[in-house]
Amino acid sequence: MITGLRGRDMITTQEWTTEELDTVLEVAKRLKMDRAMGVPHPVLRDKVLAMLFFFSSTRTRASFEAGMAQLGGHAQFIESKSTQIAHGDTAKEIGVILGRYNDGIAIRQVDWGSGNSYIRDVAEASRVPVLNMQCDRYHPFQALADLLTIVEKKGDPREVTLDVSYAYASSYQKPLSVPQSLILLATRFGMQVRLARPPEFALMPDVVESARANAESAGGSFEVTESFEDGIRDADVVYAKSWGAMLTTTDEGESASIGARYQDWIIDEDRMALAGPNAIYMHPLPADRNIEVTDAVIDGPQSVVYDQAENRLHVQKAVMALTM
Ligand code: CP
Repeated sequence: MITGLRGRDMITTQEWTTEELDTVLEVAKRLKMDRAMGVPHPVLRDKVLAMLFFFSSTRTRASFEAGMAQLGGHAQFIESKSTQIAHGDTAKEIGVILGRYNDGIAIRQVDWGSGNSYIRDVAEASRVPVLNMQCDRYHPFQALADLLTIVEKKGDPREVTLDVSYAYASSYQKPLSVPQSLILLATRFGMQVRLARPPEFALMPDVVESARANAESAGGSFEVTESFEDGIRDADVVYAKSWGAMLTTTDEGESASIGARYQDWIIDEDRMALAGPNAIYMHPLPADRNIEVTDAVIDGPQSVVYDQAENRLHVQKAVMALTM
């Protein structure tokens, strides 16, 4: 277990060592157990987290806010559209000023090409830790919750074959950050990772290269396939969700019409039957029901989406308790 993490930013798990990430999981399990047992753990009493959102959220907002309250502190909800950011507050001003009011700054900024750099600019100016609640590149807390869920359900991650797959959705062009953070973290922990996606839905080349390097040093594997079924076949974990064709086009309408060619990339019971006998189904939510995944699968016995969503709370509390 690693101590002395106070003050650290969590922008991507790639910037934390495996031992540090193991510590996050250990603390998350302890806090989860404490909550189940009704044991109070106000380790952040009198501390305040600023939560700055440029984009909508259900789980992230609710779990960070609940987590801060359970740790004895407070979270303030700030929406970019109701602040002076639109009238000129810079990232530096946000970092310096919110850093003087608060003990941590959490940010969701998913704009393609600028979300991650905005968060890094705030972090550069801030004297308190900055936590990435999702940007255009990464969603580290989702990936940490996913890893905790997989370990709880499947045990040793080195024995797990994980299918990280594109699935069609019509609601909006979702960021690349969930699959990117997941392939980065799963390969760090030695899983056999398959990325399945149509040719137009590639992930960022530097992220894919890092996933390959992670797999090599952790002793797992990483492969890319353009076949939906090959990704699912014999997998222990089927994690299929939509994302936009950002590397093919930055035009939302064009991305949507490219996606419409792949409406058969939906997880249904026949597809789940291709996976391993005790395979689990995961999705970070919100899902486009009966478009990305059928009701029968997401509400069925193989689905762990509610446990997965719950684990957001526990991993976030762990990182806040360790860093703030
Ligand atoms: N999975 C996730 O980040 O959910 P929200 O967008 O609702 O926060």
